[in-house]
Amino acid sequence: MLFAHITDVHLPTTPVKPHELFSKRVLSYLSWHLKRKKHHLKPVSDALVEDMQSFKPEHICVTGDVTNLGLKGELEQARDWLQALAPANKVSFVPGNHDTLTPWSVRQRDKYFSPWMQSDDGKAEMPYVQVRGNVAFIGVDTGVATLPFMATGTVGAKQMARLEQVLNETKEQGLYRVVLIHHPPLPNINKARKALTDAEALAQVIDRTQPELILHGHNHVPMEYGRGETQIFGTGSASVDFGDGIAVAHYSLFEVKPSGELKVTHRYYNPETRKFATR
Ligand SMILES: [Fe+2]
Ligand SMILES: [Fe+2]
Repeated sequence: MLFAHITDVHLPTTPVKPHELFSKRVLSYLSWHLKRKKHHLKPVSDALVEDMQSFKPEHICVTGDVTNLGLKGELEQARDWLQALAPANKVSFVPGNHDTLTPWSVRQRDKYFSPWMQSDDGKAEMPYVQVRGNVAFIGVDTGVATLPFMATGTVGAKQMARLEQVLNETKEQGLYRVVLIHHPPLPNINKARKALTDAEALAQVIDRTQPELILHGHNHVPMEYGRGETQIFGTGSASVDFGDGIAVAHYSLFEVKPSGELKVTHRYYNPETRKFATR
């Protein structure tokens, strides 16, 4: 099973409607966002998608921050972008903090993202479980509306309990378990302002269940670490080019062999060729 992991595409902000500025959160973020938007470039993420499709992945995982401000126009654009990637049963999605910036955008989640966030039995309960071949993709939603300039996420007690249950069930079924989550899943990786508020509790679930692989985004740079038997990869942003030749877009391809062995390929954007290559 060959699958790709893309994250933090931060598609360009669509025009903001005047009534949307009544949200204090949106106002707070807008000026900050306008300064940094030159680092997230659509031609870069378009080149990424083209490169990724050339490998013909059997499945595509997208771990959130498809928008910047979680506005209506941005959510519509994100939905269309996800639709264009592959048929819905070949894409798994979890939202990021930018997609759930306001209480309004949190409430829109099912309307815009349900085709990619459903368990195989059709239930909308989180985390979802999507079994493809010998792999179970388990999507955890950490999206909660936050105060301005906070980029935290929360799994929550109910979702945490179900996560442990589905990790145990899929292990009994002999599946290779891939947990998809926007925020880094362990404590002491991010400052409190950007961290998962219940990372301590999640770490304990990981210790008890030892999923084979966890994929996350949020930090915009490639990261590789682990906990016990669990391998953890943070994938870089899918659209970033800071113009310094160093902070460039990244995505990963994962191949799970029938033996359970994992092969990882990292693809990075080259600003000179405007193409992606393995480093
Ligand atoms: Fe992000
Ligand atoms: Fe994020």
